[in-house]
Amino acid sequence: MNDTRTHDCLRLIHLSDLHFGDQTAGSAAALKQAIRSLKPDLIVVTGDLTQRGRASELGSARDYLDGLGAPWVATPGNHDLPRWPPWRRLVDPLQDFRRLVSPRPDARVDADRMRLALIDSTNPAVWKAGRIQPEAAREAAAYLAGGRSGQLRVVATHHPFDDRPGDKMGGMHGAAEALKILCHEGEVDLLLWGHRHRTEIGILYQEGLRCVVGSGTASPTSPRCEKKGESFHALDLGEHAISIALWRRSPDTERFRRVGTRHFDRQKENHWREVEPELEEEEEAV
Ligand SMILES: [Fe+2]
Ligand SMILES: [Fe+2]
Repeated sequence: MNDTRTHDCLRLIHLSDLHFGDQTAGSAAALKQAIRSLKPDLIVVTGDLTQRGRASELGSARDYLDGLGAPWVATPGNHDLPRWPPWRRLVDPLQDFRRLVSPRPDARVDADRMRLALIDSTNPAVWKAGRIQPEAAREAAAYLAGGRSGQLRVVATHHPFDDRPGDKMGGMHGAAEALKILCHEGEVDLLLWGHRHRTEIGILYQEGLRCVVGSGTASPTSPRCEKKGESFHALDLGEHAISIALWRRSPDTERFRRVGTRHFDRQKENHWREVEPELEEEEEAV
């Protein structure tokens, strides 16, 4: 996956957990180089743009995203809420995010190949875990349901939908009910999330014939990334096909490289399936 695209598609870069304020040396510059080479149509950032939610960190994140050469949207993560003073977390916790990053933490995007709904999954009452309100899911589902034929329906949150008992990172309260709403009322095709700092790609959810493709991406810039290195996803979205490429910057190299691609296609009644196994570590420097 470089400049050439295999089919008429929309190219989307999925970033998460940039953590401005606590980044590994050189990672932000290397990421910018990789993204510019991929010439995306849109960049989606699924939260934790900052380490402590400080105004200076939020401003740096916005300036960085503005310099990537493509439109972008972002939803907040738990690290983007103010830490101090504590009352600010309970009284308009997204005030700085709206002012300095994006006035729409729940942005909507209507593109040729895609309808996208961002949902704010932060919970100011706790530190790590998230929550998703049924009303927010219903509103996003109504937006997706109003899409045209040929558009993939995509939802992005910071917290993951697959709640795991005992998950130290904290799950997303209300995830199961919200997922049902998004599947049945919004016919969602693809979910994007971050938070776990872990690469997770695959079929996420099945109920009858309904399957959803999931893209959980780790961090491209945080020292608390996966052992194999910092990473992000590049997705090519067609009417009936989704390709998700994993790009990684390993500890022994300066640049991001594509290390594997997963392919999914749409079957009858919006059932998605994986059509090819993950490619073995491909060597493709930016
Ligand atoms: Fe994070
Ligand atoms: Fe997080």
